[in-house]
Amino acid sequence: MNVSIFTCFGIREATVHCLHKAFFIISLGFATRNFEAYLACGVNMVKSAPPPSPSLLFIAAGVALLLVLPCYGWKTSLYVRKLEKTVDMPLNADVFEVPPGYNAPQQVHITQGDHVGKGVIVSWVTPNEPGSSQVIYWKGNSTWKNKAEGKVTTYTYFNYTSGYIHHCTIHGLEYDTKYYYEVGIGLTVRQFWFVTPPEVGPDIPYTFGLIGDLGQTYDSNRTLTHYEKNPKKGQTLLFVGDLSYADDYPDHDNNRWDTWGRFIERSAAFQPWIWTAGNHEIDFAPELGETKPFKPFTHRYRTPFKASDSTAPFWYSIKRGPAYIIVLSSYSPYAIYTPQYLWLQAEFPKVNRTETPWLIVLMHSPLYNSYNYHYMEGETMRVMYETWFVQNKVDVIFAGHVHAYERSERVSNIAYDIVNGLCTPVSNPSAPVYITIGDGGNIEGLANNMTEPQPKYSAFREASFGHAIFDIKNRTHAHFSWHRNQDGYAVEADSLWFYNRYWHPVEEPGSI
Ligand SMILES: [Fe+2]
Repeated sequence: MNVSIFTCFGIREATVHCLHKAFFIISLGFATRNFEAYLACGVNMVKSAPPPSPSLLFIAAGVALLLVLPCYGWKTSLYVRKLEKTVDMPLNADVFEVPPGYNAPQQVHITQGDHVGKGVIVSWVTPNEPGSSQVIYWKGNSTWKNKAEGKVTTYTYFNYTSGYIHHCTIHGLEYDTKYYYEVGIGLTVRQFWFVTPPEVGPDIPYTFGLIGDLGQTYDSNRTLTHYEKNPKKGQTLLFVGDLSYADDYPDHDNNRWDTWGRFIERSAAFQPWIWTAGNHEIDFAPELGETKPFKPFTHRYRTPFKASDSTAPFWYSIKRGPAYIIVLSSYSPYAIYTPQYLWLQAEFPKVNRTETPWLIVLMHSPLYNSYNYHYMEGETMRVMYETWFVQNKVDVIFAGHVHAYERSERVSNIAYDIVNGLCTPVSNPSAPVYITIGDGGNIEGLANNMTEPQPKYSAFREASFGHAIFDIKNRTHAHFSWHRNQDGYAVEADSLWFYNRYWHPVEEPGSI
């Protein structure tokens, strides 16, 4: 469904909001009987002024009408939801169930295993003994079975010892093909499948899902279910960081990393989840003797960073169908001369929009955020990288961290040079749209306190849990939709047609 009743309601709601604003301005002018008040929106009221003439009233009404017209999209949703305490599902919840059989593989998940989509990294955990790190795989229409050998690792964290964590990279797969695969040995073999992406190219439809800050609450389960049941089937999930929230438990109880791995298996074993590191992956706890950042995350979740000449798993890139996806780390150094900075600087010239029209960036901490949570935390990365994002016409930047939804206008704030005073976001057709999708539903609850008034760069914001879909149609058009958990699976609570910044850089409907 491209245009839902909620989208229509959103347009009407935004218009009503703007009409109220215009009516307020006219009323204010009458009340103060001062024409300047009309134009200054009531900021500079003068005590004694002559009554306005009919012609002045006519001009004021015209000004008010002009204020109405560009108001589309500058909206804080008035959707009313029940705010309940968000609690983690208990350890005996069915979604955490351990698969039957001695040493049965669990927490199975896959991610892209190379730069172009012909490789897959299969990961899983065997709880009792190492078992085998081998993956058996075959094409759906073939009986010829292939083998790939992986490696096993373990780690300790304070008083916790992990199970045996296996990672096996499969190379040389055919594009656009369904493969079955098996992990485990003896009586505890488990079978799954995945579909490889189409060959990298400009006019191939491909559908990405988006989830962030998921955690493992009842709301997290609703988010994942809504993603799975969405009729616009996501083929690959872009995860914008903050996975298990195990670090919210005493001693960062790593058993909650295991429960999270079992929880997401129902999706992540069948389609790649593309990982972004969030602050809840840092697990830096010197009081516990744990001083190596990202220890559980790096042992459990792999990324194909070497394939994009990165030197660390936290920043890397992949091509997938029509998209070039750059993943950045908000929690690794990104200042000038740092490895991440130098890597990103070298990365942009490698993007060929004729091959991959859609340039997508993932990070955890949003650069534009009008909630009173984590306010300005993305500011230093914005200062460092926003100019590159605009120069290279990034289509969209997805982030999480703030536990709510927000979509920006196409704006930039790159003119400031310390002395010129130009430090306000301005409309910029070369700028990305910034989308915060940190509303997966974790234990820390919703971010429902917003800065007021809503900044003009903020097109739509709402504190509800949900997920999003970025549905690429061809080199010029992609349809974005945000789906809140309270609605039916097909309902789009916010949506926008994206026009590609390289191939079709015209103003999108709904932009300022
Ligand atoms: Fe976060």
